[in-house]
Amino acid sequence: MQVLVHPNRAVLRALYALIVGAAVIPSCLIAAPTVAPAQSSSPYTKGPKTRDGAGVYYFGREIAHYMTHHGAPWLERGEREIEERPDLVMKALALKPGDIVADLGCGTGYFSWRMAQAVAPAGIVYGVEIQPEMLALLDVLMQQRGVTNVVGVLGTVEDPKLPQPVDLAILVDVYHECSRPAEYIAAVCRSLKPGGRLVFVEYRGEDPEVPIKPLHKMTQAQVKLEMTGQPLDYVNTVHSLPRQHLIIFKKRAAP
Ligand SMILES: C[S@@+](CC[C@H](N)C(=O)[O-])C[C@H]1O[C@@H](n2cnc3c(N)ncnc32)[C@H](O)[C@@H]1O
Repeated sequence: MQVLVHPNRAVLRALYALIVGAAVIPSCLIAAPTVAPAQSSSPYTKGPKTRDGAGVYYFGREIAHYMTHHGAPWLERGEREIEERPDLVMKALALKPGDIVADLGCGTGYFSWRMAQAVAPAGIVYGVEIQPEMLALLDVLMQQRGVTNVVGVLGTVEDPKLPQPVDLAILVDVYHECSRPAEYIAAVCRSLKPGGRLVFVEYRGEDPEVPIKPLHKMTQAQVKLEMTGQPLDYVNTVHSLPRQHLIIFKKRAAP
């Protein structure tokens, strides 16, 4: 199997231009989310709209705009190896050959191909996205790497539309921008196998030194608070990453 360790950003830019039809990546990387108006029976409330947010609040947190496919080269930047230590993320996940994994909000597949190697040969990684352009990039990059066990899935903001139950679902730098977190996580839980794990990797909101916009960070307490209504039990948090925390939940056994 041919594995390219670092796809060159120039190659990614060229691919991006090919797929999206733009020669220059626009400076604006953030899109307004498609959130329906908040209703009284809804878990969402309307509030002050800040620059990076939707003006829609969930458990007191303003939901962030999602990163558009124009930001794809940023996802493949070489500095991620140092800033995010994907090797430590992989160690913490402890995936096994044969595992079925959902990489929710997979983007260009920065983590999909790493997880695909860990679960090969029989395991599958479903790379789930709401942006078809990201899935097109995912497809090209997985082909470049010679990875054959990553399957792209076009989901919606309320449902990842996973084709089969999974052992592990992970959201790396995604959850804070999910526009329908209540519905989305409920749907993910329905697709977790009994005892299956749900993992959030988010930039640490508790740490002012982490150089990320406030709405694109989350505190551990906020993530736990937002999972209270879901059929999940908190397992533990991995603190070894330079800028993020990795928060693990497990699907609660049916009563
Ligand atoms: C900051 S990028 C992170 C991509 C990837 N996880 C990584 O670490 O390289 C966030 C991605 O989440 C996707 N996204 C946002 N909301 C989503 C949802 N409800 N379901 C699936 N993908 C979503 C966006 O389209 C975007 O590609």
